[in-house]
Amino acid sequence: MSPTDDPAPTGHPDGAPEVDLLVMTLDAADPEINTRLAPLLDDEERARAARFHFDRDRRTYIAAHALVRSVLAVRTGIAPARLRFTAGARGKPELAAGQMPVLADGRPALRFNLSHTREAVAVAVSTDPACAAVDLGVDIEAADRLGDYDARIARSFFAEDEAAALEALPTAAERARRFLTLWTLKEAVIKTTGQGLSQKLSGFSIRFPAAWPADGLLPDIEARDPAPPPGLAWHLTHQELPPADGRGGLHLAGALLAPVRQPRPRWRLHRVTPAMLPRLHPQAAG
Ligand SMILES: CC(C)(COP(=O)(O)OP(=O)(O)OC[C@H]1O[C@@H](n2cnc3c(N)ncnc32)[C@H](O)[C@@H]1OP(=O)(O)O)[C@@H](O)C(=O)NCCC(=O)NCCS
Repeated sequence: MSPTDDPAPTGHPDGAPEVDLLVMTLDAADPEINTRLAPLLDDEERARAARFHFDRDRRTYIAAHALVRSVLAVRTGIAPARLRFTAGARGKPELAAGQMPVLADGRPALRFNLSHTREAVAVAVSTDPACAAVDLGVDIEAADRLGDYDARIARSFFAEDEAAALEALPTAAERARRFLTLWTLKEAVIKTTGQGLSQKLSGFSIRFPAAWPADGLLPDIEARDPAPPPGLAWHLTHQELPPADGRGGLHLAGALLAPVRQPRPRWRLHRVTPAMLPRLHPQAAG
C-alpha cells in the first residue's frame, strides 16, 4: 500500500479486489472546516454538528461526514449533501435504497465505512464488483492515544494469546505499538461485521506473521476467529502513518470480507486535505 493522490477507482486488471483508504488529517482549530465543509452535509448532520459542546468535536464530525459524502459522491455521481443513509441492525451506516449502486443480480455494489479520531478521519470504500458480496471496516487512532501502556488494559480487551504475545515484547515502546496495532485491527473487524462493541474484542484473535516487516506494513493478517462466513475470507491491513505537519502519528487498519476464490485485495492509501474535498466531485448532480 503506497500513498497516492488519485482517489478514483482504477479497476482491477488481475482480478484483485480494490479497496481505497482515504485519510484526512485535521487542524482542529481551522475555522475553515466549518465554512468550507459544512455545506457538504445534510440538514440533519448540520443540526447534530451544532449540538456538540466542544468546537473541536464539531469540526471533527463535520470533516468526517464531509469526507465520507465526498468519497461517495465520486462513486455515485450524486451531490454530497443529497446522499441519504440508512442504518443496519446495530447502526452501521449504508447508502439508502435507490442511491446504492447495485449489480445486475441486485446485490449492493458499494461498501464503505468511516472512522474518526482527535486529529484525523478515515474512510474505506470499494465499488469493486469483486467485493460486492462482502463488507468493509476501518479504524483510525492517534499513535499517542495510549499514553503509558498498561498490561491490564491489554489483558481485559484482547484474547489471551494476543495479550501474552504482546507482554512478551521486550520494550514498552514495542508493547504500546502492538497494542494500537491490535486495537485498530480488531475495531476494523467488528466494524466490518457491523456488530460494533456488542462483539467482544477479547472473543477473537488476530495472528501476526512471525517477523515484523521492516516497513511496518502487514498486508494480510489472519483473523482465525470469528470464522468468516462460508466462502468468504478475512483480509486485514494495518499501517502506521508517521507524524506530519506538527501532528502526531496515526494507526490505520482496514478489514475486508471477500470471497475466498479471489486474489488478495489491493489496498490503496490516499492522503487528502479539507481543501481538496469540494474539488473531488465537480460532476456530481446538485
Ligand atoms: C461502531 C463502534 C465500534 C464505533 O467505534 P469508535 O471507535 O468509537 O468510532 P469510529 O470513529 O471508529 O467509528 C464511528 C463511525 O462508525 C460508523 N458506525 C456506526 N455504527 C457502526 C457499526 N455498528 N458498524 C460499523 N460502523 C459503524 C459510523 O459512521 C460512525 O461515525 P458517526 O457516528 O460519526 O456516524 C461503536 O460505536 C459501536 O459499537 N456501535 C454499535 C452500537 C452498539 O453496539 N452499541 C452498544 C454500546 S454499549
